Amino acid sequence: MAQTLAAFLKAQSAPESLKGLIAGIADGCVRISHAVRQGATADMLGTAGDTNVQGEVQKTLDLAADDIMIDVCRAAPGVVAAASEEQDGIVPVAQAGPHEGWLVLFDPLDGSSNIEVNVSIGTIFSVLPAPMVETPRDPVAEDFFQPGRDQVAAGYVVYGPQTLLVFTLGDGAFGFTLEPVSGEWVLTHDRIAVPAETKEFAINASNQRHWHEPVQRYIADCLAGTTGPRGKDFNMRWVASMVADVNRIMMRGGVFMYPADRKDPSKPGRLRLMYEAAPMAMVMEQAGGAASDGTKALLDVVPDALHQRVPVMLGSKAEIETLLTYG
Ligand code: AHG
Ligand code: MN
Ligand code: MN
Ligand code: MN
Repeated sequence: MAQTLAAFLKAQSAPESLKGLIAGIADGCVRISHAVRQGATADMLGTAGDTNVQGEVQKTLDLAADDIMIDVCRAAPGVVAAASEEQDGIVPVAQAGPHEGWLVLFDPLDGSSNIEVNVSIGTIFSVLPAPMVETPRDPVAEDFFQPGRDQVAAGYVVYGPQTLLVFTLGDGAFGFTLEPVSGEWVLTHDRIAVPAETKEFAINASNQRHWHEPVQRYIADCLAGTTGPRGKDFNMRWVASMVADVNRIMMRGGVFMYPADRKDPSKPGRLRLMYEAAPMAMVMEQAGGAASDGTKALLDVVPDALHQRVPVMLGSKAEIETLLTYG
């Protein structure tokens, strides 16, 4: 009998409140998966009529998933504050004090552009330690400005043909599939190991005219095939849901890129550091892969804003090393 998430968590040495939080997030994602699967039958498709702090139109499911994740944070013991793609500022839950506590960040629904077309979407989460302070005080946004390296847990759920939870507590990455009849999360991917080499890349090629020169050269070499400098034929995949693209790479290797480009010089890439890039980077590193912003490990980037964007290059370790030689 395969191990359940509950049995797996019980056997981990992490603090009880952190394990409780992971179990709560997993439960919340089961609720989100139900909303995803209801689709048009429960008016779950379409827009909600508002925009988020980054100017994106919010979908009904973006907000439904956000509500569920905030509920999870309010119910889980030890959570001091939450932050979300869909919330301008932090959501205070409890006071920071002279005790252990958690700050939770999430992208409640990743890949919103794929909702209406029934393509895989997901949820991404990151857990940071709350500051321990002698005199209890309310949490502030600055408490969250810790590098990804400080995360105590990170993971994602893909709502695809299977509902799959992949997470790390800092000692390997593990995948649990939601068994549809029992509703139980079952360990199906034990200590995921991302192949170091690959012949597959993921990038939104419609931005090619905006790319900087090193990205142009790297992709050109991939496309040159067996007679080019890379000496092999590359395949390309782009789901346009980061969770689905990164999950594919977790399972069979590959490289995922959302670089900074010349399209809008005020934006260093499209993806958000704290609830997209950093948690995916931790999971990827824990599975033996690599994650970089082009100059340094993504996990070493120190945030100074909740919604800041960052260039992302992650995946098979040897391929990321090759990519970084392009400058
Ligand atoms: P979100 O739906 O949470 O705003 O994130 C969308 C992100 C990410 O999932 C994906 O990799 C990227 O946007 C897709 O970008 P393009 O539309 O440029 O392909
Ligand atoms: Mn969005
Ligand atoms: Mn996203
Ligand atoms: Mn989102």
